[in-house]
Amino acid sequence: MRIDVLTIFPSMFAPILGESIIKRAQLAGKAQIHIHDIRDYTLDKHRKVDDRPYGGGSGMVMTPQPVFSCAEAVLKKTKSMKSRRRVLLLSPRGRSLKQRDFKSLARTKHLVLICGHYEGVDERVAEHLADEEVSIGDYVLTGGELPAMVVIDAVVRLLPGVLGNKDSAQSETFEGSRLEYPQYTRPAEFRGKKVPAVLRTGDHRKIAEWRDKESLKITKKRRPDLLKEVK
Ligand code: ADE
Repeated sequence: MRIDVLTIFPSMFAPILGESIIKRAQLAGKAQIHIHDIRDYTLDKHRKVDDRPYGGGSGMVMTPQPVFSCAEAVLKKTKSMKSRRRVLLLSPRGRSLKQRDFKSLARTKHLVLICGHYEGVDERVAEHLADEEVSIGDYVLTGGELPAMVVIDAVVRLLPGVLGNKDSAQSETFEGSRLEYPQYTRPAEFRGKKVPAVLRTGDHRKIAEWRDKESLKITKKRRPDLLKEVK
């Protein structure tokens, strides 16, 4: 999968691209991630990317021209088929992404992530450039960069062959509309607190039953809404 990020803060992405699973996925050729500085596409000498809102009001609005020019340069270069790519504008006004959305995004060939800023982005970007405006949750961040990193992380780990263990993207939280059961590792006793005995019996049927029961219990307590969700 190819991912292109359009941002006015390109250096924010270096830490996540250069570490851990995202780094490995790139080295293994599973993900090609390219970061583009929207400012490189401005036409004025001050490299201005914002302006005052029409109609008045506080704050500044991102101007359409550098965003369109940057996206058009990316699309021209990559020539990805429209049906196999998604252009997303990250904004708190967008539809909230869920695990199933990331699964569907992981099946596309090309993702273009546009990081919004300031009071907002000129609406023509959402209407005529992006396929969809998406949010990572009901809270407001200072810009779309952290949300874009969340999208990259959530999608890249789902790409075939990225996670070492084939099962680990399957049996986890949200996959079956359940929160994950508690996990333990050594030591068997830590500061007087013991690992549940069933996990040390080696009885796989009993362990599976215990995990199922615990998963249901924790989901009922913390996220009863998930149990009602029809997938
Ligand atoms: N930009 C600012 N807040 C955001 C959010 N919650 N999701 C996506 N983009 C954002």
